[in-house]
Amino acid sequence: MQTEIYAEVDAYLEQNLLKPDPVLEKIARDSAAAGLVPHAVTALQAQFLALLIQMNRVESVLEIGCLGGYSAVAMARALPEHGRLITTEIDTRTAEIAQKNIDESGFGSRIGLRVGPAMTVLDQAIAEGQIFDFIFIDADKVNHKNYLERALDLSRPGTVIVADNIVRGGAVIDAESLENSVRGVRDMFAYAQSLKQVEMTALQTVGEKGYDGMAIFRMTGNA
Ligand code: DHB
Ligand code: MG
Repeated sequence: MQTEIYAEVDAYLEQNLLKPDPVLEKIARDSAAAGLVPHAVTALQAQFLALLIQMNRVESVLEIGCLGGYSAVAMARALPEHGRLITTEIDTRTAEIAQKNIDESGFGSRIGLRVGPAMTVLDQAIAEGQIFDFIFIDADKVNHKNYLERALDLSRPGTVIVADNIVRGGAVIDAESLENSVRGVRDMFAYAQSLKQVEMTALQTVGEKGYDGMAIFRMTGNA
């Protein structure tokens, strides 16, 4: 795998396409310094999510899997002033780091961080009848299918759902894989294909974080 050239091209694209971003750069720095795993989306991917949000005039976002708050802030920043983003984090210490990053970003008033297992948070949101314009699934991949299922219950026709990490270095095509995360992704796709009310595609991605991909779903009807 030509991972070096992927990272070099990512650096080139970042330098030539993105503006200096002290807010997200600080979150990346502080998250690394706090010892969080380097699993946040890249700067270019964060901008991709922000553009999707703006192109769809999104006002409410649900993020499943917060980590250090990098993507949460990138997405919240793309919302209109009155926009709101809910994000979930299972790990208490990670959530403390994320909340600090969010508070220091200047976009904290738009972001609600819910600490606990994502399934619990999602079931609560469903019970409350919450509906979102945009949903980003980026927590443990084992539950990808379960998160997509819940996401549909939190959607309206037109809601866009993006699921991260659906290629896993190519491992996704291994039907015999014993890796739980691969099985989670494959379960998600098997489930998604059974749905009448979604249109979807996927993009393979390469870059500074290796070889992976994102799936994009659009709700066409009620779930
Ligand atoms: C992993 C998780 C992520 O969300 C990601 O973007 C990359 C890797 C992981 O758990 O390995
Ligand atoms: Mg991810």
